[in-house]
Amino acid sequence: HEEELSAHFDATIARDQRVEPRDWMPEAYRRTLVRQIAQHAHSEIIGMQPEGDWITKAPSLRRKSILFAKVQDEAGHGLYLYSAAETLGADRAELTEMLIEGRQKYSSIFNYPTPTFADVGVIGWFVDGAAICNQVPLCRCSYGPYARAMIRVCKEESFHQRQGYELLMTMMRGTEAQRRMVQEAVDRWWWPSLMMFGPPDGDSPHSAKSMAWRIKRHSNDELRQRFVDMTVPQAEHLGVTLPDPELRWNEERGRHDFGTPDFEELKQVISGNGPCNAERVARRRSAHENGAWVREAAAAHAARHAGDRGK
Ligand code: 3HC
Repeated sequence: HEEELSAHFDATIARDQRVEPRDWMPEAYRRTLVRQIAQHAHSEIIGMQPEGDWITKAPSLRRKSILFAKVQDEAGHGLYLYSAAETLGADRAELTEMLIEGRQKYSSIFNYPTPTFADVGVIGWFVDGAAICNQVPLCRCSYGPYARAMIRVCKEESFHQRQGYELLMTMMRGTEAQRRMVQEAVDRWWWPSLMMFGPPDGDSPHSAKSMAWRIKRHSNDELRQRFVDMTVPQAEHLGVTLPDPELRWNEERGRHDFGTPDFEELKQVISGNGPCNAERVARRRSAHENGAWVREAAAAHAARHAGDRGK
């Protein structure tokens, strides 16, 4: 009987159709989805910190309210994704424990500091731009709940990317000091943003399986290339230079050639040795501990009113 179920699963994937929570699925398919969705959710929640630091220091009420809305969106994306992971039997509290104990990852990109307000703009432009390159294909992922979560997330990401670029446009029309601040933030974030797409295809243990199961639709290198091709004209329009001497248009390829990111740095940052890893995880741990009373109160309230539903 298992062969029939497995053949049905394979046919669903082959026909580019959706696998839903109640469908039979190979244990390895379920496990890799929990792995990826949980880490995606952790990335959204940790990702609130680098920009969150600027909410109380934003230069105007307008910038503060935009930033507030964006950081709030990231929290919502995290909750959306934890819910998608729960449809696969994962337990949200357990996932949070694994994050806090360093047993599950979050995106490398959030382990870098944000020393100036221009960093907030560049995160919107580069990091949310990279997120769009990575998340739009995930709207066609074979696992239904994950794909559907991505549709709303992608709409909000394009607002995130737009507000970051508009912030930088405003600064580039400002003083020489503001223009320099933007260029320095671009120099800081360009290579870590290319690393965010993951290791090169030849060094990506999950890609083959993930693509066969139509979870990953394009390889890490393909999405990295798309991000470069999308960003170069935006940098020209903004009037900043991208810090890669090998970056140039290649007519026959119809794409940009560019230098090789430092994948050794990516390995280091992923294994916890980035500039801000310890601080980011410590902040997450203390937020979780400080929030314990809210969880207990909510659970007590739910228990006391469990019977009310019928009244
Ligand atoms: N940071 C941290 N870990 C990374 C990484 C990165 N930038 N890139 C790869 N890794 C990890 C993988 O998780 C895997 O480790 P694991 O086995 O412990 O999970 C290992 O390195 C090997 O990488 P693979 O390429 O073989 O792994 P995947 O096939 O899972 O590809 C991925 C990696 C492209 C990140 C894929 O998991 C993915 O598309 N995830 C969903 C998108 C996501 O998580 N984006 C993170 C940014 S969050 C975001 O964009 C929000 C926005 O608001 C900024």
